[in-house]
Order: sequence, then C-alpha cells, then structure tokens
Amino acid sequence: MISIESVKKSDYLKLINIQKSIFNNQVHTYKLENYLNGGLIKIWKISTTKIIGFVSFYHVKDEIEIIQIGIIKSYQRKNYGSLIMNKIKKLNIKKIFLEVSVENSEAINFYLKNGFKKNGIRKCYYKGNKSRIDAIRLSCDLNKNKNL
Ligand SMILES: CC(C)(COP(=O)(O)OP(=O)(O)OC[C@H]1O[C@@H](n2cnc3c(N)ncnc32)[C@H](O)[C@@H]1OP(=O)(O)O)[C@@H](O)C(=O)NCCC(=O)NCCS
Repeated sequence: MISIESVKKSDYLKLINIQKSIFNNQVHTYKLENYLNGGLIKIWKISTTKIIGFVSFYHVKDEIEIIQIGIIKSYQRKNYGSLIMNKIKKLNIKKIFLEVSVENSEAINFYLKNGFKKNGIRKCYYKGNKSRIDAIRLSCDLNKNKNL
C-alpha cells in the first residue's frame, strides 16, 4: 500500500537521512526545523512499508511553490514522484511553480512529463562548485473549471 501524508515530528531523523541520501549529503535541516516549528513550509512523505520520499512546498492561497522533491534512489523511476505530484494537483490550487537547476536534466524531464512548462531562466540562481548555476523556472497551470 502506498500512502502520502504530512510528516510528523517522529519522522524527522528518517527524513534527514533520506534527504542526505538523495541530495548527496546536502541537507537543508533548517527547512525541516522550520516546518516542525509550525512554519509556512509543508512537508509530505510517501511511504510503502517505509518512507521512500518526500516533498516540501509553500502553499499560499491558490499557489504552490515546490521547494524540494525527492525519492530514494532504489525507488526512482517507478512513478512515486508522479504520485506525489498528482496529489498536490488535487489541492484547491490554480498554479504550481518551482525552480530547478539547468544541470538537473532528470528532474526537468520529470516536471515536463508531469505537465510543467518552461517559463524563464533565473541567472546564477544556485551555488555551484566553481561558478553559479542558472535555474529554469517551471510552472503548471491547473484549470479547475474544465467545463467552462
Ligand atoms: C526527480 C524525481 C523526484 C522524480 O521522481 P521519480 O519517482 O523517480 O519519477 P517518476 O517515476 O514519477 O517519473 C516520471 C517521468 O519523469 C521522467 N524521469 C524521471 N526520472 C528520470 C530520469 N532519471 N531520467 C530521465 N527522465 C526521468 C520520465 O519521463 C518519467 O517517465 P517514464 O519513466 O515513463 O519515462 C526523483 O528522480 C528524484 O528524487 N531525483 C533526485 C532528486 C531531485 O533531483 N529532485 C528534484 C529537484 S528538487
């Protein structure tokens, strides 16, 4: 059985380890702490018999900004990321947007496959090893009034 639900305080350590394994030890623990302390960030986990991934995002009015989405390596490319995205799309929202590194072609493919469109570049958005890396801005408009 697959479930997607909000992260609890007791998931914190597991989530840090998952984040570390997916993002090569770059962990944004402050984001988890902010979340657990009742901040604006929301985090959902996806689980089978154990937690296999997560998504963190801001939900402001009818828009969602995805901060980070990750599925542990051995479970990637098995549709779990798309399941998370489909659940986000069911919220009462009009738009999802995010930035992704121009170098992360796998994630760009993933977002395009999930209905996102490119709508701009943010120059030097990410810190790289040697120089700064551009980000692609992607967004997905959700038409809730399909009968109109
Ligand atoms: C990006 C990520 C969240 C996608 O989740 P996933 O469960 O692996 O993706 P899905 O199985 O739902 O893939 C759906 C589609 O996305 C594309 N895709 C996903 N992973 C891909 C990869 N490694 N290479 C190329 N295309 C990919 C494919 O079009 C795929 O459809 P297909 O398998 O029928 O061809 C996951 O691979 C991941 O955690 N990557 C590392 C972390 C990361 O880069 N996160 C995004 C930036 S925050």
